[in-house]
Amino acid sequence: MKSQDIRKQFLQFFESKGHTIVPSAPIVLKDDPTLMFNNSGMAQFKEFFLGNGTPKSPRIADTQKCLRVSGKHNDLEDVGFDTYHHTMFEMLGNWSFGDYFKKEAINWAWELLTEVYKIPKENLYVSVFEGSKEDNVPFDQEAWDIWKGLIDEDRIILGNKKDNFWEMGDQGPCGPCSEIHVDLRTEAEKASVSGKSLVNNDHPQVVEIWNNVFMEFNRKADGSLEKLPAQHVDTGMGFERLCMALQGKTSNYDTDVFTPLIEKVEQITGLKYTSDEVKNISEEQNKTNIAIRVVVDHVRAVAFAIADGQLPSNTGAGYVIRRILRRAIRYGFTFLNTKEPFINKLVEVLANQMGEFFPEIKSQQQLVTNVIREEEASFLRTLDQGLQLLDNVIAQTSGSEVSGAKVFE
Ligand code: SER
Repeated sequence: MKSQDIRKQFLQFFESKGHTIVPSAPIVLKDDPTLMFNNSGMAQFKEFFLGNGTPKSPRIADTQKCLRVSGKHNDLEDVGFDTYHHTMFEMLGNWSFGDYFKKEAINWAWELLTEVYKIPKENLYVSVFEGSKEDNVPFDQEAWDIWKGLIDEDRIILGNKKDNFWEMGDQGPCGPCSEIHVDLRTEAEKASVSGKSLVNNDHPQVVEIWNNVFMEFNRKADGSLEKLPAQHVDTGMGFERLCMALQGKTSNYDTDVFTPLIEKVEQITGLKYTSDEVKNISEEQNKTNIAIRVVVDHVRAVAFAIADGQLPSNTGAGYVIRRILRRAIRYGFTFLNTKEPFINKLVEVLANQMGEFFPEIKSQQQLVTNVIREEEASFLRTLDQGLQLLDNVIAQTSGSEVSGAKVFE
């Protein structure tokens, strides 16, 4: 199934359950001092959870462009090195604002995954909040009992506050959650090590795909919890990971979300990316793969941020975007041998691929391309000059150590 169809099916499923489908909010937040970027689907609905407004429907579903590069949820340093974290990713979500709660949320999640998407039940594990004395929140018996009606009890895992109590930041709406994990390993691997032992253990093929949060509390600035005026549901499914599961891949980068971008990088650089199925690759090839993953991941984050109005700059959110782009330029420069701007050329591919669903990337394509090209050109100049200066310094030291202070000059 193509990623476009996977996204559509999610939205159609929740539409059939009475949800209103809304567009993604911009990736950049301008009106929430506690967050720089949308880091989850629920951020645009925060005020509704807090009881400060009423949504246009008590049931909403969407796919949200998210960026996890700063603050409480920050995956930046993992990106490129593993095959399932991203700076920008899409989060498929369904929400209940004071309407349905755990029973419907869990049953629908299960129905969608196992009956619509037809993920084999034997590949799924779920987790339930074990409770927290510190916060005075009990074990989530209700979620446990609902899951028990759907899945073997030995596939239900108890999780602590770190994994099973979701919070958007240091403050804000929060609550116990129930996650769904998928095991994408081969039968032989499954037979030798149980998938259960790998859940929440950073295994690249035993990954969380969906988080169902039962919003009941607000974390206040002093760290205490207060009850929200009503109970809500906030779910978030990692779109790229879902595509990996449904397209029979073991890396997000081997799905059609990323392959068109990777092909373009290969075409520009003359280098080859090897899919996750190719084992025992050389150290050199591994570095190439990491760099290509960094580039194709980062261009999405930067392009969508610019399309949503956040230009790279020297402060705040703009600086974060500039740093992401510079990380991609550095990886290209060092490992892909790209001494000329090239990342901007990926914007066209991205716009063709995502423009139907996210029209902003199509309508802003020229601006995004120009901004990235200028940033690349200027940073490549800086890198080039810096390296020449460094070469001079090294030449002058005639073999002895170069001081850190000198290098940082
Ligand atoms: N807010 C939860 C998360 O981001 C579920 O949407 O994981």
